[in-house]
Amino acid sequence: MHDYTRTTALVTGASKGLGEAYARELASRGAHLVLVARSGDALEALAGQIREAHSVRVDVIAADLSDRRSAHAVVDAVDDLGLDVDLLVNNAGTGAVGPFLGRPLGPTLQSVDVNITALVGLVHLLGARMIARGHGGIVNVASTAAFQPMPYQASYAATKAFVLSFTEALAEEVRGTGVRVMAAHPGATDTGFFDGTTASMNPKATDAPADVAARTLDDFARGRFLSFPGRASQRAGAFVPRLLPRGTVTRLTGNLNRRLGFQDVSDLDPARGK
Ligand SMILES: NC(=O)c1ccc[n+]([C@@H]2O[C@H](COP(=O)([O-])OP(=O)(O)OC[C@H]3O[C@@H](n4cnc5c(N)ncnc54)[C@H](OP(=O)(O)O)[C@@H]3O)[C@@H](O)[C@H]2O)c1
Repeated sequence: MHDYTRTTALVTGASKGLGEAYARELASRGAHLVLVARSGDALEALAGQIREAHSVRVDVIAADLSDRRSAHAVVDAVDDLGLDVDLLVNNAGTGAVGPFLGRPLGPTLQSVDVNITALVGLVHLLGARMIARGHGGIVNVASTAAFQPMPYQASYAATKAFVLSFTEALAEEVRGTGVRVMAAHPGATDTGFFDGTTASMNPKATDAPADVAARTLDDFARGRFLSFPGRASQRAGAFVPRLLPRGTVTRLTGNLNRRLGFQDVSDLDPARGK
């Protein structure tokens, strides 16, 4: 069983949502934290709350992970702090939603850079150090969206399919090294994921971020390489697509997202992402 006490965990996307929940849960389990996101003020506020509640060190690194140099910049900042990262939680992620060709390109490309490029960069840079030290852990937050194409979330689901495939392959590459790699696949979770757009989630179908974070960390502690930290039906939803022809699955997910109105999504601030 993995013990988080007195380990140092770097959590990306820690300013709100699931990342904030991972940070709070890790601190409650005794881990020191490095919090990463763009919103430095929100990170500092969270760091202050966590320091008050728990006897752990909390550092903050404000970084835009859609900048292709950001992985190097974050690791340089970790070095400046004199820290070794024992657990990397690659949680930061954004998701373009709506008809692919009808939505602005900027947020879509930023999503690819945050969800894939920064994640791969941090895994490479920090993972190599873990291998050299002979221990460490990496949790890549993917999604149940990783398991099938999703019309109206086309590029988002594809980025998560990348994370799924990449993480499973890497977990096998590092087996036996003392470094463990796990992909976490939350389902719909009650966060601000769709903020700034007219899209919304069905509140009856969402899980609480604190529950998702706790289950993810329990699964990692148990040595799993795969975590479905949401409700049981979401785990089942990830396996059904394996049994059906891909074209059928894509039509079904397209129908599901049409029922959620994702084909008509627009931005609340029309200047966003231009
Ligand atoms: N909510 C869901 O239903 C759900 C389901 C499955 C998987 N997930 C995954 O869970 C992860 C967290 O999502 P969430 O629901 O918690 O979303 P969220 O509430 O929107 O939080 C996203 C986090 O990522 C950070 N972030 C976004 N763009 C960034 C950038 N360019 N550079 C650095 N940080 C950036 C945000 O911080 P700043 O804005 O301060 O930068 C924020 O801390 C994502 O990988 C998402 O794909 C979510």
